[in-house]
Amino acid sequence: MKNIAILASGSGSNAENIFNYFKLSNDIEVSLFLTNNPSAFVIKRAEKLGVECLVFDREQMKDKDALLSLLKERGIDYIVLAGFLWLLPDFFVEAYANRIINIHPSLLPSYGGKGMYGDKVHKAVVEAGEKYSGITIHTIDADYDKGQIVKQVKVEVLPTDSYEDVATKVHALEYEYFPRVIESELSKF
Ligand code: GRF
Repeated sequence: MKNIAILASGSGSNAENIFNYFKLSNDIEVSLFLTNNPSAFVIKRAEKLGVECLVFDREQMKDKDALLSLLKERGIDYIVLAGFLWLLPDFFVEAYANRIINIHPSLLPSYGGKGMYGDKVHKAVVEAGEKYSGITIHTIDADYDKGQIVKQVKVEVLPTDSYEDVATKVHALEYEYFPRVIESELSKF
């Protein structure tokens, strides 16, 4: 069994979707949620799903031995970032080299970078009058912006679309593609 930990800072709808996708799998299990946000809705989702969810603060995040042994004890093989807003410390990225994947709700490199997350991305896309938005699924490298793009999927933005409409379309793509991409990445090792 390969064990996944999902890191999320907010609602956690992707975390829930990924958990459910692998629920019946014999090879892959989502066995841990981690969040930096004590009031994140992902904690409620974890309770409902019956998956362990740990909350950590910045100090705990920087504590190499504690964090890595926590993941090791649970046999975590692979890390999924699903709406996780903090940068990972270098030791974490090194420990899980090639085994960390992130999703971004735009067609990177457009609408990426600092401060570009959640609805801010969709608002910027609508304000710029873009004809397309989409998702980018990419690995995380020690040099944060150097990860490899694994998959991008486009969706049309209509002139009448509000940022909420774009968010809905992009979320639908995330739910459809992210679990499958994770599955195919995990099959490589
Ligand atoms: C998603 O749109 C994801 O692409 C972005 O943050 C959002 C998280 O949504 N990185 P949720 O918490 O999974 O509902």
